[in-house]
Amino acid sequence: MNDAAPNAAPQTFYLKDYKPFGYEVESVKLTFQLSPNATKVHSAIRFNPKADAEDNRFFLHGEQLSLISAKIDGTPVTARLVDGGLECDVPRTSFLWEAEVEIDPAANTALEGLYMSNGMYCTQCEAEGFRKITYYPDRPDVMSTFTVRIEGDEPVMLSNGNPTGAGEGWAEWHDPWPKPAYLFALVAGDLVNHPGSFTTKSGKDVELNIWVRPGDEGKCAFGMEALKKSMKWDEDVYGLEYDLDLFNIVAVDDFNMGAMENKGLNIFNSSCVLASPETSTDANFERIEAIIAHEYFHNWTGNRITCRDWFQLCLKEGLTVFRDAQFTADMRSEPVKRIEDVIALRARQFPEDGGPLAHPPRPEEFQEINNFYTATVYEKGAEVIGMLKRLVGDDNYYKALNLYFERHDGQACTIEDWLKVFEDATGRDLSQFKLWYSQAGTPRVKVTEDYADGTYTLTFEQSTPPTPGQPEKAPRVIPMAVGLLSPNGDEVRGTQVLELTEAKQSFTFDGLASKPVPSILREFSAPVILERETTNSERAFLLAHDTDPFNRWEAGNALAKEVRVAMVLDGAAPDAAYLDALEKLVRDDEQDPAFRALVLSPPSQSDIAQTLHERGHTPDPQTIYDAAETFTQTLAQQLETSLPRLYAATTVEGLYVPDADGAGKRALNSRILSLLTRLDGGEQAARQYASADNMTQQYAALAALMKAEKGEAQSKAFFEQWQDDRLVMDKWFALQIACAAPEATAATAKELTQHPLFSMKNPNRFRAVMGALAGNHAGFHHASGAGYQLLAENLIALDSVNPQTTARMCAAFQTWKRYDSKRQAQIQAELERILATSGLSRDTHEMVSRMLSA
Ligand code: PHE
Ligand code: ZN
Repeated sequence: MNDAAPNAAPQTFYLKDYKPFGYEVESVKLTFQLSPNATKVHSAIRFNPKADAEDNRFFLHGEQLSLISAKIDGTPVTARLVDGGLECDVPRTSFLWEAEVEIDPAANTALEGLYMSNGMYCTQCEAEGFRKITYYPDRPDVMSTFTVRIEGDEPVMLSNGNPTGAGEGWAEWHDPWPKPAYLFALVAGDLVNHPGSFTTKSGKDVELNIWVRPGDEGKCAFGMEALKKSMKWDEDVYGLEYDLDLFNIVAVDDFNMGAMENKGLNIFNSSCVLASPETSTDANFERIEAIIAHEYFHNWTGNRITCRDWFQLCLKEGLTVFRDAQFTADMRSEPVKRIEDVIALRARQFPEDGGPLAHPPRPEEFQEINNFYTATVYEKGAEVIGMLKRLVGDDNYYKALNLYFERHDGQACTIEDWLKVFEDATGRDLSQFKLWYSQAGTPRVKVTEDYADGTYTLTFEQSTPPTPGQPEKAPRVIPMAVGLLSPNGDEVRGTQVLELTEAKQSFTFDGLASKPVPSILREFSAPVILERETTNSERAFLLAHDTDPFNRWEAGNALAKEVRVAMVLDGAAPDAAYLDALEKLVRDDEQDPAFRALVLSPPSQSDIAQTLHERGHTPDPQTIYDAAETFTQTLAQQLETSLPRLYAATTVEGLYVPDADGAGKRALNSRILSLLTRLDGGEQAARQYASADNMTQQYAALAALMKAEKGEAQSKAFFEQWQDDRLVMDKWFALQIACAAPEATAATAKELTQHPLFSMKNPNRFRAVMGALAGNHAGFHHASGAGYQLLAENLIALDSVNPQTTARMCAAFQTWKRYDSKRQAQIQAELERILATSGLSRDTHEMVSRMLSA
């Protein structure tokens, strides 16, 4: 299934080479005759040559297609098949292009283009999958209306837009909104729907459906509610209304990503839409709500206004992630969402930005665009918008967004268009701000302070380490939200946003009665690494008194990191003052349980490794693991007498409701259970496991038991109970690896790859196993090198099946330069082994080469 992929010198595409297509596509009509191994696709496309075209080469993308015939205005023509598509001599006036091709959906394990999943036909066209369906100018700046006829004997046959007719063995669809080919979708199979409806603010009734395989009907209700909430929220907050009579969502088991925003026909990885209390955890519910919102919000930010080219990907993704985060904050808890997002940003984006795969939110070159659906494009792209909003203020932000929708509706846009809208709406010059889109790397901001005669001075120095291809960095605009507290804990200066624009800059605060304690980077107002010499007692003070909830958590997090770093570097015992502060917080029932759960969750071992690396030490994964174990054990002992009471007090009784309030309480309860399990031999966890009536509590009990090596019976029982549920089985696979001791991790993962339910063809299952391996820090980086070897072997095996998922998972190696020379040599050998694989995909080739060359 691989494209002819040489192991050297694949083509590189550059932003600077952008040229518009020489033809306008007036309309597209597609007819599919479905058959698992031989689907015929007939296309009838009206092209109008552009009078002002700089380049009128008629080139249509096409890959893995068998061309049966081609015609222009009804007359057969001979097209020249060239690398990646075809060329043809065409008239200089409007003409109708017709082609018939044959494709093989059943053989398509790459899950791009038209493929089959559990007997159901399904498409995935973003970014460049449409060219595997038929010959077409497969680029986002070519927009057209699509009419689709599907012929086949599947009970349900869906495409974009509105249904225009159906009969025995056929269905027709028309999408009135011009769209790029990457938003095309087709689904056909034996599906059942969970219906719903929504009336828009202007009174239009929209039919909603979630389509699933028979048996999954009971897992749609939550997703349907999330969809309705999203539709309402986008009207209320952005004034954006849905624009078709019908909105369909389909759940599919085999999917490379989370979900896809195809116009009027969103396709979801079943893990991102199917939910029930018995099979989904609180975290699953929250994620599903967010992804449904994300895909729905793309209808305006992505579909009505799309990207000119794939370098502009963050135009739609950064903005849509920003919007879905606003939504989650509104539906649930704003500070909790912000803390979760920052934890994720530091875990996924900071390592990317600080390693060999670093790239700006708007990259300027790529070999395979699928490799740029990254944390930088998505999450940092969203952070950049958050900074923009903070700099211009809320009113100006919405004013600019209104102008964006007004000015660019129906267009394929660039980051320049986006920034111009803000400049025009606010009169502000954003040329320096634009560096956020073009410079890679996480800025370090060093803060020093001075106090004399009632005047307090904060001095900031920013610098960004070099990243691949960008040795020099210019200072950026950094919004720094700062507040000041008096030593007795009162806030003496509320939050204000200082605008850093220079390499070094000072700000003064007058009229202070005593030296204040600063609370810097409130709400994490910029994606930077703050460096400030401070004491643990000041951190503990902020943990107790800061009025900004994010910074209160951050103070606790920084404190936790310092304590752990000291344990790793000096073999110090866990700091007693910190343990006391934690104990006080856990027992404080005035505090939000979700917040307490977050403060009780220790920084990840990978995070500690990153911190050590930033400070010039070579992290040893085993020592970091041991420190984590010692710390948790000591904390459990410190809390020993209060744990049973705390467990009882935080147990949520009654009917399970997956709301933020219940989820927060259960998160705290689960943290306490895991501590308790270290002391009581697993008694309480076994009781919870036996009585749980929802997955959150069942899973928490199982995880606590397995971590304590007391969960063998429950793990077996869990398997027996859930072996027919693919999504729950993914949890079972992953948990065993996540809970394994470092020396047993690779062996556990290897054994699971031999399990009859392991599969290379299902990305969720592959990720459950290999993702858990890469996520077990001490296990993956175990000195034996067995973790590296196992991952590399499996990536090599997966590459010929599914290049896209292989390439994404290669990123597990991106932090390799953090570690000692022996580990580096082991990883290097594995990367070289992958690169030497014959027929390696362009996707994986690019990722591995980038990691090796930096
Ligand atoms: N555009 C999708 C999203 O962000 C992600 C995606 C990309 C899905 C590529 C499939 C393939 O919602
Ligand atoms: Zn998206």
